[in-house]
Amino acid sequence: MTQGRRSIHGQWSSRWAFVMAAAGSAIGLGNIWRFPYLTGENGGAAFVLVYLAAVAVVGLPVMMAEVMLGRRGRQSPINTMRALAAEEGHSPLWQYLGWMGMLAGFLILSFYAIVGGWTVAYVVRTAGGVFNGMAPKATGDVFDGLVGDPERLLAWFTVFMLMTTAVVSRGVRGGLEQANKVMMPALFLILVVLVGYAMGNGKFTDALAYLFTPDFSRLTAASVLAAMGQAFFSLSLGMGAIMAYGSYLSEHASIPRTTLQVAGMDTLVALLAGVAIFPLVFAYGFEPQQGPGLVFKVLPAAFGQMPGGRLVGTLFFVLLTFAAWTSSISLLEPIVAWLVENRGHSRIRAAALAGTLAWALGLGPLLSLNAWSGYTLFGKNLFDLVEYVTANVMLPLGGLLIAIFAGWWLSRTASVEELGLGDGLAYRTWRVLIRYVTPVAVLIVLLNVTGLL
Ligand code: TRP
Repeated sequence: MTQGRRSIHGQWSSRWAFVMAAAGSAIGLGNIWRFPYLTGENGGAAFVLVYLAAVAVVGLPVMMAEVMLGRRGRQSPINTMRALAAEEGHSPLWQYLGWMGMLAGFLILSFYAIVGGWTVAYVVRTAGGVFNGMAPKATGDVFDGLVGDPERLLAWFTVFMLMTTAVVSRGVRGGLEQANKVMMPALFLILVVLVGYAMGNGKFTDALAYLFTPDFSRLTAASVLAAMGQAFFSLSLGMGAIMAYGSYLSEHASIPRTTLQVAGMDTLVALLAGVAIFPLVFAYGFEPQQGPGLVFKVLPAAFGQMPGGRLVGTLFFVLLTFAAWTSSISLLEPIVAWLVENRGHSRIRAAALAGTLAWALGLGPLLSLNAWSGYTLFGKNLFDLVEYVTANVMLPLGGLLIAIFAGWWLSRTASVEELGLGDGLAYRTWRVLIRYVTPVAVLIVLLNVTGLL
């Protein structure tokens, strides 16, 4: 019987605390850094449209499934999968879904914390007035200078990893919940201010046309995969982060309602980020296909020109730091929860251990941006490769298996009970999506891009 099962790590103090924490996990660099640069690389509106479809058809049902499994298992993803499989009389092999998630978490963190380090570095730079009055193109050189210097990069990366580890070491309520409750509302506010600025000072209509008038001839199999991968990445799905957060959720909270709110906020923030950034991209003469440096090159150009730009810019990078921080803690949490459950470590010890390991793993991607930039595989350096493989392969694969478990292996009674929708149209829609639509869609996209289909 699952009712009354408790997580040893504690529980969110309210439904709202979960919504903030899950939104904190979802809303991050994925929305403000990755979404704009992918949109730029993949030709704009057609990519945005496929992304929105992927969120609705694949992302939302999988998010409901992850929260549901987590709340039923009440443990770290590995142990949750093992417990639920046993309970339903299935193979213990399902725990490997949790193991793959743990690996994906480490790998994502290894490049995510590097970008997190950039955000902290940029707080210091904007606050110090480095960009004041600087010619737009020169801000690009500042970014290239940072990325090309392994020592400075290492310092900021280490700072960010320490920040992440510190929050996770304080536990679910004292760490995760507190951090999210403060940072998330603040993030939303500053984003609205920036959209306002872009409307007044950027090429706003050009940006809207770029973002919302699709040219489907620019859509390739690769960009469809990128859009789907981005849906998983942005919603924090496919590796167990949302599953772990679900394991701390009260049994009285409605899963459909909370997940709808989280996915809605995440999508809104991505679109707002696009609407804030592209008017400035065009106004300052940048190319949309800048790659990962886009936000870090373009926005400082705007901050350097606008009145009060030093303040607004500092605020922006503080909030980008917050967004990255509340997400990175969710990458570390499932690993730390597992270490506490299975190795009997204290939370502090577990966080230190996991943080150190992730830090060591990040050294490869970090050096691949400068000292080792000559070494590439499939035309990508290690940083790009890890980002590509986790987002476009590991997360969709994890999501596919989660969908199959929740839709086919978990008993119908169990999912009816957890979702609390009764057996009506809403429940049946979810069930069709999770059993058929999600697995088929993910498979088609994966097979298509590998050329197998
Ligand atoms: N969703 C976060 C972002 O958009 C990144 C993230 C946090 C994540 N936890 C995750 C991505 C788990 C995949 C899986 O920045």
